[in-house]
Amino acid sequence: MAEQQQVTIPVITKKDEMRAFSRKQKLAGKTVAFVPTMGYLHEGHLSLIEAAKSHADVVVASIYVNPTQFSANEDFDVYPRNPDSDRLQLQAAGCAAVFEPEGSLYHQVPGAGDGSNVVGRESGHPDSHETWVTVERLQQGLCGVSRPHFFRGVATVVTKLFHIVEPDVAVFGQKDYQQWRLITRMVRDLDFPISIIGMPICRENDGLAMSSRNARLSPESRANALSISQAMAWAQQAVAQRQATSAAAIAAEVRQRITAAGGEVDYVQLRDADNLHEVADAAAQATLLAVAAWFPAKDRGTVRLIDNMVLGQLPS
Ligand code: PAF
Repeated sequence: MAEQQQVTIPVITKKDEMRAFSRKQKLAGKTVAFVPTMGYLHEGHLSLIEAAKSHADVVVASIYVNPTQFSANEDFDVYPRNPDSDRLQLQAAGCAAVFEPEGSLYHQVPGAGDGSNVVGRESGHPDSHETWVTVERLQQGLCGVSRPHFFRGVATVVTKLFHIVEPDVAVFGQKDYQQWRLITRMVRDLDFPISIIGMPICRENDGLAMSSRNARLSPESRANALSISQAMAWAQQAVAQRQATSAAAIAAEVRQRITAAGGEVDYVQLRDADNLHEVADAAAQATLLAVAAWFPAKDRGTVRLIDNMVLGQLPS
């Protein structure tokens, strides 16, 4: 019988202990890389840990399903969680510690914000907060339209995590492309002494972008969701061969293909891959093709999947 693995990786739950851990590494002359996650780890996350190892001496990951980036009607309660498996995977991947903050990192002060997101339910907490970090332009459009709380929740909590972990380098996946650009911008604008590394999307063999949320797809939805990567591959080829370069025409075709497969499209957009400005001609610059669509879940409701492809050269 296979021996059951033991969790030996330090699991740090207190903010001051996390900070002390990082400072100790630095006093010993080591650099620290940080990989923030919401857990339920897959190969995509492990590729971020691998990249982190190549950029610093010590890697710290965090597992925290951040309530502030979910609206009240979103999937916070059913977001998949498996901390035991996550810890073992991080340990095997060579992480030095995992930060799993106890309780919530943010309690919305009564009367602040619009009260419609998850933290609003915790208003009245003695340790309440009213400061948000907003990246004004980059948080608009794409995912910011159907998820208006999302990016300020991400930016605020990532800021807190950066202050707690004090990394030299932080690694983000490019599946959340807008998030990666926004964090890169935030770090530049607010003078965080942290290098941000963006890592390419990891895909299943058939092309589906890896995501913790894939676990919630019904088998039929799992098959139909392939329409996203297939439609994007069509677009990539069409632009490379100059068969289609009008952003509007490409977006319409990609939308149609996903809809035909039973997906409910949130958006299909083509943007400048660096600054996310809207573009008219997909061949005129490195162009991000970004997609978000809902597919039926196996339990209840729907699963919102995002994916993207860069047509041309990636920004650094
Ligand atoms: O990409 C994610 O998993 C989350 O948005 C992050 C960066 C961990 C912040 O909660």
